[in-house]
Amino acid sequence: MAKKFPDTFYNPISIIGSVVSLITFIAFIFLFLIGIFVPSTPVYFGIVTFIILPFFLISGLLMIIIGVIIERRRRIRGGEVRHFISVDFNNPRHRRGTLIFITVVVVFMLSSAFGSYQAFEYSESAEFCGKLCHEVMEPEFTAYQTSPHARVKCAECHIGEGADWFVKSKISGAYQVYSVLFNKYSKPIPTPIKDLRPAQETCERCHWPQYFFTESKKQKTYFKKDEVNTPWTISLLMKIGGGSPEMGPTAGIHWHMNIMQEIEYIANDNARQEIVYVKTTDKQNNVTEYFSTDNPLTHTEIDARQKFKVDCIDCHNRPSHVYKPPTSAVDLAMYLKHIDPTLPYIKKVAVEALSYNYSTKEKALDSIRYVIENYYGNEYKDIAATRTETIKKAVLEVQKIYSRNFYPSMQVTWRAYPENISHMNNPGCFRCHNGKLVSPLGKQIIKDCNSCHTILYQGSELSPKTLTTTGLEFQHPEDIGDEWKTTNCNECHTGE
Ligand code: HEC
Ligand code: HEC
Ligand code: HEC
Ligand code: HEC
Ligand code: HEC
Ligand code: HEC
Repeated sequence: MAKKFPDTFYNPISIIGSVVSLITFIAFIFLFLIGIFVPSTPVYFGIVTFIILPFFLISGLLMIIIGVIIERRRRIRGGEVRHFISVDFNNPRHRRGTLIFITVVVVFMLSSAFGSYQAFEYSESAEFCGKLCHEVMEPEFTAYQTSPHARVKCAECHIGEGADWFVKSKISGAYQVYSVLFNKYSKPIPTPIKDLRPAQETCERCHWPQYFFTESKKQKTYFKKDEVNTPWTISLLMKIGGGSPEMGPTAGIHWHMNIMQEIEYIANDNARQEIVYVKTTDKQNNVTEYFSTDNPLTHTEIDARQKFKVDCIDCHNRPSHVYKPPTSAVDLAMYLKHIDPTLPYIKKVAVEALSYNYSTKEKALDSIRYVIENYYGNEYKDIAATRTETIKKAVLEVQKIYSRNFYPSMQVTWRAYPENISHMNNPGCFRCHNGKLVSPLGKQIIKDCNSCHTILYQGSELSPKTLTTTGLEFQHPEDIGDEWKTTNCNECHTGE
């Protein structure tokens, strides 16, 4: 058979290389077409198409080149050929070889430009981030799917804009793949995440405090842990605010906290839950310092310690990965009647079933069924006999709550990631607004119950028919005297 390519091509390494590249190229085209025409492909499809196949394709092409180089070296040493390739266009074999070479290079360049764009898109997709490292990211991915950001790609928050970020993220991504493969990651993944700062660049691409948000109504119904699961509802008008003085009204939380003044703080712990010093600088450069009454820092200590500037993530640290504590999750399920609130003591039992520390998800789901069925079997034999379906449905619902909010393999629960936006089950706003940070002139950071929200209604109606807009004085649902004024809510309301 006449040789179609230059002699040096006919060596074992180059031939294996060309077989490998030809097969992978055909496979790539084939899978790529499937990817276009089949709407939902399995998780590993993208990895095979855009990462594994191109790896073999490039390896194959490199083998061809390496084979040719080795072969030429051998022949040069044997004196069979001269040092440099000479192309003679009068020789049909040379002509054909050059043509094939140029065609292969052009096709390869075009398809690799296209392929790397596809690979880039794929490596930024929520599927890639959330499912590839299934166990590691399962909590974040699951929580994300039911969050307001379910249509925002992971990369839009976790990776900044521009080339330097791209390089940084791929480098840290490569490290993450390594740490997953060799089981080197910590459980749970530690926060605060440094790369999300400054939040200005991250969140403000889509939301910015100069835009004025009007007030918004939040209503919550709680159920007490008594026999009849007494309901209690509070309706709050959140003063979200913001704004820019040139363009319209200014008010509310975002105005005070983000725009009107710059706020810096010092925390005693890594999770920044225990704040011991706060400094505000307003637009006229007036500075106010607030010192902890329990643990005041001296000025030399303040100069030496790391200070953080308040930004979006100091309040919105769980915009897309919320892990609810048992009480809130059960309250919501009862409010929606997914769990029947007429089952005696169901609030107490459901919360208890969720509060044990289970080692695996399977054990948890089993124990939840056991705890609940056992309770009614022992305490309410008649109900256990007559309302088996209702109890069964409650069990299923509590198991669902567990699956959505607890991830024992990653040690993720609401305890691992305290949410900062409220102050009920975590210190949240009361990290500073707690009456225990005071300026030398005696000014406290305000804790008045109607300063961040207006209480429109409180009481036992499930859906209140009348609301006041002037703001009610808070009445704690249980008689605990003035305790709620001096003790932070989360010290009693731990979430379980
Ligand atoms: C709206 C922006 C946003 C989106 C979208 C988003 N995240 Fe996050 N993510 C955050 C913030 C904010 C934190 C908490 C940062 C902190 O506390 O410092 C976080 C934390 C995390 C953490 C650390 C552990 C934890 O639960 O706090 C992981 C892992 C993570 N995200 C993965 C993902 C994955 C995977 C996706 C896509 C499926 C995703 N994120 C989508 C904003 C986002
Ligand atoms: C790529 C755009 C995008 C980015 C980046 C982004 N968000 Fe959002 N955010 C959205 C969309 C879309 C919604 C849902 C529609 C809406 O409420 O406006 C939303 C909703 C929200 C809400 C309202 C949630 C609710 O309960 O109604 C908050 C709070 C929020 N985002 C905070 C953040 C924070 C904090 C960050 C930075 C970590 C961030 N977002 C980054 C697009 C984005
Ligand atoms: C001092 C705490 C705090 C800071 C800092 C903060 N926010 Fe908020 N933000 C809130 C509170 C409280 C709400 C009301 C949310 C609620 O009730 O769930 C809110 C609501 C929002 C909403 C939803 C608005 C709506 O119409 O429901 C968005 C979007 C938002 N914030 C974005 C941001 C961004 C972006 C930043 C950073 C520039 C930021 N916030 C900084 C406390 C804060
Ligand atoms: C790092 C400490 C810190 C945290 C955390 C914090 N704040 Fe503040 N907040 C301040 C300081 C300091 C002021 C200014 C007090 C002043 O100037 O009177 C302030 C003022 C405010 C004001 C204006 C009050 C008024 O009527 O004058 C609102 C509203 C507010 N914060 C809301 C919130 C909300 C909501 C949260 C939680 C999501 C929160 N803050 C968390 C430090 C904090
Ligand atoms: C610094 C601002 C601020 C102050 C002061 C404040 N709150 Fe709140 N409160 C919030 C925010 C923010 C939320 C979260 C709303 C949400 O869940 O979206 C909240 C939520 C609540 C809730 C619902 C809690 C839940 O998550 O189930 C209650 C009840 C409540 N506040 C009562 C009070 C009472 C009583 C006081 C006075 C002692 C008070 N608040 C003072 C900011 C504040
Ligand atoms: C000294 C402890 C203590 C403090 C502090 C406290 N509470 Fe309570 N709270 C209780 C007890 C006890 C109950 C009754 C629990 C039950 O029967 O389920 C209760 C019940 C409630 C309920 C009814 C629903 C439920 O979960 O049982 C709400 C709402 C509530 N508290 C809000 C608050 C808020 C908001 C604060 C902070 C401003 C606060 N509490 C501070 C002890 C406390």
